Amino acid sequence: MPPFSLPLNLKWRPLNLKATAIATNTDKVTEVLLPEKIRNSRVLVLGGTGRVGGSTAITLSNLCPDLQILVAGRNREKGEALTAKLGGNSEFARVDINDVNSLETALKSVDLVIHAAGPFQRAERCSVLEAAINTKTAYLDVCDDTIYAWRAKSLMNRALDANVPAITTAGIYPGVSNGAYLPVGLVIMFPKQNQK
Ligand SMILES: NC(=O)c1ccc[n+]([C@@H]2O[C@H](COP(=O)([O-])OP(=O)(O)OC[C@H]3O[C@@H](n4cnc5c(N)ncnc54)[C@H](OP(=O)(O)O)[C@@H]3O)[C@@H](O)[C@H]2O)c1
Repeated sequence: MPPFSLPLNLKWRPLNLKATAIATNTDKVTEVLLPEKIRNSRVLVLGGTGRVGGSTAITLSNLCPDLQILVAGRNREKGEALTAKLGGNSEFARVDINDVNSLETALKSVDLVIHAAGPFQRAERCSVLEAAINTKTAYLDVCDDTIYAWRAKSLMNRALDANVPAITTAGIYPGVSNGAYLPVGLVIMFPKQNQK
């Protein structure tokens, strides 16, 4: 597995998984044993009814089956079709990212949000990141838009002050990592000792 690099100067401390990550198959990692205190964490996949969010939810569920996964979007039918496949540790949450109330209500109940509810192009604000900071929820997005990414990065000091781990532009391109293990990487670094 290639090295997983983390930004320096963080107020929060990433957990060291070296001793506890278990590859149950020699060719590929089929399950990652997360540390006890975050093993049952709740992860909201916004855009979980879409292609990127849906495959992220499936990957997370396969790699970390004890995580509680909330598949979120506006389309209940699509969301429930996915949660039926994912099984008992998942549920659908109807969330519109343009509705701050539904967004913050959903975020308050989770430890990590993965934002794949694109398109990111022409979005006027980083509503999900702002809600993540307000609710002290670890955040990762798969933004593929330069303007959006710069806007997200302009919120860095707010995220640091709130002690909220946040990573933008973490999809396949421009290429922080490969999509399969980066979400897990963030799960690894978000602190369960967060102030929820
Ligand atoms: N960086 C990368 O490598 C990379 C690669 C591919 C895509 N992307 C980005 O990821 C985004 C998603 O791609 P995709 O292929 O998965 O698109 P998609 O299949 O069209 O899925 C879009 C998702 O966003 C949700 N959504 C849209 N507007 C929403 C809103 N107002 N509130 C809540 N959910 C909303 C949709 O759910 P509902 O319809 O149920 O609301 C759907 O689940 C793209 O727009 C692109 O910006 C990045």
